[in-house]
Amino acid sequence: MNAERPEVAAAALPNEAADAPQITTVVIIGAGQAGGWAAQTLRREGFTGRLVLVGDEPHPPHERPPLSKAVLSGSAGPETTLLMKPEAFDALAVEWRPGIQVRRMDRAAKQLLLSDGAVLPYDKVILCTGGQARRLVAPGSDQVPLYTLRTLEDAQALAPEFRPGRRVVVVGGGWIGLEVAATARQQGADVVVVEAQARLCERTVPPEISDYLLALHRSHGTQVLLGLGVEGLARAADGRSQVKLTDGSVLAADTIVLGIGLVPNDALARESGLACEGGVLVDAQCRTSDPDILAAGDVAVTPNPWAGRRLRLESWQNAQEQGIAAARSALGLAVDYQPLPWFWSDQYDMNLQIYGVPTPEHRVVRRGDQDSGSFMLFYLAGDVIQAAIGPNAARDLRFARRLIEQRKPVDTERLADPGVPMSKL
Ligand code: NAI
Repeated sequence: MNAERPEVAAAALPNEAADAPQITTVVIIGAGQAGGWAAQTLRREGFTGRLVLVGDEPHPPHERPPLSKAVLSGSAGPETTLLMKPEAFDALAVEWRPGIQVRRMDRAAKQLLLSDGAVLPYDKVILCTGGQARRLVAPGSDQVPLYTLRTLEDAQALAPEFRPGRRVVVVGGGWIGLEVAATARQQGADVVVVEAQARLCERTVPPEISDYLLALHRSHGTQVLLGLGVEGLARAADGRSQVKLTDGSVLAADTIVLGIGLVPNDALARESGLACEGGVLVDAQCRTSDPDILAAGDVAVTPNPWAGRRLRLESWQNAQEQGIAAARSALGLAVDYQPLPWFWSDQYDMNLQIYGVPTPEHRVVRRGDQDSGSFMLFYLAGDVIQAAIGPNAARDLRFARRLIEQRKPVDTERLADPGVPMSKL
């Protein structure tokens, strides 16, 4: 899926790197998707100096989308998630430090202290430290096994739990919760989703899509409880877990999975005095408050013109494109990272995609019949589409993306008419 380089929102000026100050060592902290793309890009852009990739995970860079689906169901092995084939990774001539953490950044001396005691000098650092699954703070949370799904190890540990006769309670009805719930159901487990908000994926989608997702999961036999949190956890006499909910009811569970959000790994940046606000603040050149330290991916909070505010984009697209942009910026190439946010999720045989950032202020135009399983919702300011969402409408949404990016006014009657091809708009 990543063999080709995507269209990147970063623009290059001809050979600007030639004028940039000499850079001999670049250190990438975090060997996930953003870190992996940053490393590839540095080499592709001609950087021949010392390139160090420090990652606390034991694997070379890999992609996370299959972890909650194909890897979790056992239909794909861990090797399928690798960002690069091993030969391609070797060819980058990266000094890869797996299983190592950066403990401290000494910005005055421009050196990093690693968990194995090594001291690493740098000219530029690219922070790609991502995030970690939020933990549940509730009485009894140390009494029962709690699974999360963020890493390859998480997926491998959880996979055997999903089988017929097992009761899986998923806490959190966001993206992890719903993708894991779908996989667990497909493996024959009984599934209950407990979501604290009044609707699913409230943080990221408008109510119409939450309703659609609710109907989808219920139609597959998953029990979805909305507006309920976890009051406490306990181990029952029969060895099963108990989840006590805020309405006083108790769910018995063989397996409890938490999908209650992502916490950005910005501690290193904060301790180093970099400006942080719910993640590491960067500009459109991916520079933190220290211009020799850049950041990309889940950890970076970036001004986004499409949203009209800063966003920390937790998405596959952003990990890749901002990783590329940060690497180019580190080399002194011109970068103006202003991506139109794009996100997708696969649940059962449904593929949902979102372009842009819908808000309650937008006017909504519908296209297609919700019951058909494939429809789109457009979010407009005046006659200009700002965002579009839809299940099973990938092709038409690509046309919508173009209309959004071109900021082209549309005839909303024609937009709402499925008889008018999107390409003719
Ligand atoms: P999320 O923010 O999408 O959803 C968390 C959900 O948990 C929210 O609906 C929230 O209201 C709920 N919640 C929080 N505390 C709760 C509690 N105590 N009890 C019940 N509900 C509670 O985050 P999620 O699903 O954990 O995903 C983590 C990250 O992984 C996100 O960045 C997400 O975007 C990303 N991801 C992306 C996917 C994709 O690209 N298709 C798939 C899965 C995850």
